[in-house]
Amino acid sequence: MGFFNFKNKKIQLEDDIDETMYLSVKEERRIAKENKKVFRDYTKLKRRKNVSEEEYLTQMRDSANVVEFDDLHTYFYTDVGTVKSVNGVSFDVPQGKIVGVVGESGCGKSVTSLSLMQLVQAPTGQIVSGSIRYQDATGKCYEITDMPTDAMLHIRGKDIAMIFQEPMTSLNPVFKIGNQMDEVVLLHVEDATSESAKARSIEMLNLVGIADVEKVYDSYPHELSGGMRQRVMIAMALSCDPRLIIADEPTTALDVTIQAQILELLREVKDRIHGSIMLITHDLGVIAEMADLVVVMYAGRIVEKGTVQEIFKNPKHPYTIGLMKSRPGSQNTGDRLYSIKGQVPNPINMPPYCYFYNRCDKAFAPCSQSYPDLMQFSKTHFANCHLYDPKYASDLKDEKMEKQNG
Ligand SMILES: Nc1ncnc2c1ncn2[C@@H]1O[C@H](COP(=O)(O)OP(=O)(O)O)[C@@H](O)[C@H]1O
Ligand SMILES: [Mg+2]
Repeated sequence: MGFFNFKNKKIQLEDDIDETMYLSVKEERRIAKENKKVFRDYTKLKRRKNVSEEEYLTQMRDSANVVEFDDLHTYFYTDVGTVKSVNGVSFDVPQGKIVGVVGESGCGKSVTSLSLMQLVQAPTGQIVSGSIRYQDATGKCYEITDMPTDAMLHIRGKDIAMIFQEPMTSLNPVFKIGNQMDEVVLLHVEDATSESAKARSIEMLNLVGIADVEKVYDSYPHELSGGMRQRVMIAMALSCDPRLIIADEPTTALDVTIQAQILELLREVKDRIHGSIMLITHDLGVIAEMADLVVVMYAGRIVEKGTVQEIFKNPKHPYTIGLMKSRPGSQNTGDRLYSIKGQVPNPINMPPYCYFYNRCDKAFAPCSQSYPDLMQFSKTHFANCHLYDPKYASDLKDEKMEKQNG
């Protein structure tokens, strides 16, 4: 039985849950009881009022970064056990750069970005440990995980804006586009009037390449096409000059041609606001075109990170290599698209060794024994994989010999 630290308090972890996933009534009760305790602690923490700013001011590790994730753990306390959606994630978003976060569906990309926005569904979902540091335009740095909700409201949607995959879920169907856009400006821009807000909204709609601006301003979301709605979302995100845009699968719901237009637009937008973009996608093609830096996630952890050149020219982790091979248009031999075999392990019950072990075609003995350490290949290139650990070089050689000899 283990412990984890929840805001400097020790909380007991459940026993390892039986592989079968069938829970006995006793286990269900135990989980419910544990969850209740976690929820109570959490609610107390978040209800704090009049928290002084000193309590959540911090320092960046590198002042060139807008955001630093540092060993972030975000869990969901569900009825069947604790889902470790984000399980020790660390990476930086430098000022003026596009950071691509890539990985198969369910690997924790969205929960990572929701953690940054303090939008993880509470009390089930909680940031249990780690840091998220954010630096504003004046150089002030905030520890997001310690910020009370009311302080967060000044950052969310203003300094950090979010664009989602399906705009229909973020646009309210019963209000006209114009009203919704004006509201964002009125909320965040001091002494904005309804006239100045409308002027700003129209300006932004023009900026994102919408032709009949007045008409769109007066439309309801359902009257627009998917591509148009996504443009509106980008316009809305831009209206407060954000320092960071989080784009979570921004083009997944769109046709290929529209997809290219929206990506181009995002790139223009980034240069215009001199800001950064955290671009989340399962599509390596999008990353190749857009990103400066790449973070590869698997089962709640980062398995590899580096510059876009490093990741594409010299991928190290077998998972990254598999993702590359499964891209349409990559040099596949037959007429069938390659796909990585097997499934992601159960997120409630992760093994104590490499999470990719059961799917990896390069696995050797140590891979089923311990979780790999972080290996460094350049100033910017890292991967967690035993294949590159000098400690295991001789095991690897032995194994290769054995295979060759039959
Ligand atoms: N509200 C929730 N309750 C329970 N589990 C959740 C919730 N939201 C996400 N998860 C789980 O967290 C993991 C990561 O999800 P997510 O970050 O959405 O993945 P993706 O990489 O596709 O964006 C998944 O296993 C998912 O089932
Ligand atoms: Mg997602």
